[in-house]
Amino acid sequence: MKKLLKFVTCGSVDDGKSTLIGHLLYDAKLLYADQKQALELDSKIGSRDGKLDYSLLLDGLMAEREQGITIDVAYRYFSTDKRSFIVADAPGHEEYTRNMAVGASFADLAVILVDATQGILVQTRRHASICAMFGIRSFVFVLNKMDLIQYSQEKFEWLQADIESLKEELRLNHVRCIPVSATEGDNIVNPSKNMPWYKKETLLEYLEKVEIEDGRNEEGFLMPVQRVCRPNHSFRGYQGTVTSGAISVGDDVTILPSGERSQIQSLLCATKSVNQVEAGQAVTIQLEKEVDVSRGCVLARGTDLKQTKMFQANVLWMDDHELVQGRTFLMKIATKTVSATVMSIKYKIDVNTGSQLRGESVLKNEIAVCEFALAENTVFSSFQEHKALGRFILIDRFTNMTSACGVINFALRRSENVTWQKLDITREVRAQKMQQKPFTLWFTGLSGSGKSTLANELEKAFSIDGKYTMLLDGDNVRMGLNKDLGFEEKDRIENIRRVAEVSKLMNDAGLIVITAFISPYEMDRQNAKNIIGSENFVEVYVDTSLEECERRDVKGLYKKARNNQIPNFTGITSPFEVPAQADIVVHTEGRTVEACVKQIIDGIQRRKM
Ligand code: ADX
Repeated sequence: MKKLLKFVTCGSVDDGKSTLIGHLLYDAKLLYADQKQALELDSKIGSRDGKLDYSLLLDGLMAEREQGITIDVAYRYFSTDKRSFIVADAPGHEEYTRNMAVGASFADLAVILVDATQGILVQTRRHASICAMFGIRSFVFVLNKMDLIQYSQEKFEWLQADIESLKEELRLNHVRCIPVSATEGDNIVNPSKNMPWYKKETLLEYLEKVEIEDGRNEEGFLMPVQRVCRPNHSFRGYQGTVTSGAISVGDDVTILPSGERSQIQSLLCATKSVNQVEAGQAVTIQLEKEVDVSRGCVLARGTDLKQTKMFQANVLWMDDHELVQGRTFLMKIATKTVSATVMSIKYKIDVNTGSQLRGESVLKNEIAVCEFALAENTVFSSFQEHKALGRFILIDRFTNMTSACGVINFALRRSENVTWQKLDITREVRAQKMQQKPFTLWFTGLSGSGKSTLANELEKAFSIDGKYTMLLDGDNVRMGLNKDLGFEEKDRIENIRRVAEVSKLMNDAGLIVITAFISPYEMDRQNAKNIIGSENFVEVYVDTSLEECERRDVKGLYKKARNNQIPNFTGITSPFEVPAQADIVVHTEGRTVEACVKQIIDGIQRRKM
């Protein structure tokens, strides 16, 4: 089997990227006849005096791609006698950091175009550092437009020296420089007659023989389980792709996260029984012993993987909506999906210079170093050690879109040293003593909608009924526990998170909790529900129109907000996201407080709280 090389090309149109790839395919005779004819015909009316304009070939393909809209990275497949290739073509413009990262995370090698007349530019550094950050270890710097600098060996050597320092600075592993002319075809497929001083391989020759580092070079064997296959009673197999190392029948393996051990009974590639499998192969593994394995578990041998809840990572943000700290996402690491919160944004990285920038939010296409907390112990690795278990994507829980991709730097030790302490007096025991079922009634709505009034009346009703309760009210909590928080998005996230954690503790203590916070973001209310537990959570949306709240203006805040005296005021200069699926929706306009309270109590009883 010819070994596949996946590579990404980086560079802007001006660097001659399209021409380079076009020429590569043409000279290597990899074009279909009709494509070739069309190219010859097009060039007659093109800009190169009747000579072939190789960029037209790729530009044609790009136009096709642009119509496709959904993919911003174009993939092309071609094959020579010696090797098969997939090229991911990532546009080089700054806005396309994301495409480059996507291309890079797929590829084994990067071909970075440098315009030899201009030398190493800010964008060269950007391309190389993004590729390195997202896992590429082998680089080819193609120094193009040598024809325009008279094929000068001396100039090539200067450029090579610059690239050598870039290699040191960015700690790139393998680097090769090749002087070419993409328009004239020097050193692309055929050795250049114009540069007899260059004795090494042409671009295609190099791509055909370069040895790439992949999972085979990583320590130990790993296979994240994608599927448990049970066609009948007697067979139970674990399917997935080996991401590093190799394993043979009879070898010991550890199942993570449980830590159970077993031995390999059989290995199947498709339907063929084999003795050994290695990185890159899809396999069905049968174990000697019945063990508890499900999707997201990892089979491992000879490597020490981390299993904690916190780590630091580099994140490339890809969502239109900015990232602020405190947000919770679904994180997918290899085959495992887990809920993950961005605990803090440490700093952002300027991809052009590599320097650190301060910033509380991350915009689309920016890269930031963040700390994450996961909802459960999860198996992962640093990206340096194992690519497959060291990278992840973040998925927005509401839109289901991929918001970011990232690579893990290291586990945070503080999480390793904290363990859950089991207590003898449980939540159930405490609740039973109070003879009630603890839960949290979560009010949400605009300022002045009536949350506090209704919450207060409701607490009185509970109290008369002999219940033990606690009321947490926005303004009051903000004078104590949350006095360090303001009204920017990140502060509101933290406000709601803390209140949810406190509510949970009070439920644990046996109390019925009523909260009255604007809680304007759907994501945060969802997060509160996750923290408190959906079975103990009742969301009440106090649906009073902005006009009515403003008319009531009990605290005089709307008036001030309209006079620009209060920044980020909900409903005026800061959003309120109407709950999509509140358990109870109360309209207050034209109704008495008693009627509203009765509606809520009925709603709670119907939910058997
Ligand atoms: S939340 O958005 O973080 O949930 P919270 O309920 O704690 O807000 O606090 C809202 C109360 O703070 C309002 O009822 C109002 O009295 C006061 N407040 C002061 N500034 C603002 C503001 N910019 N936006 C909304 N409420 C504000």
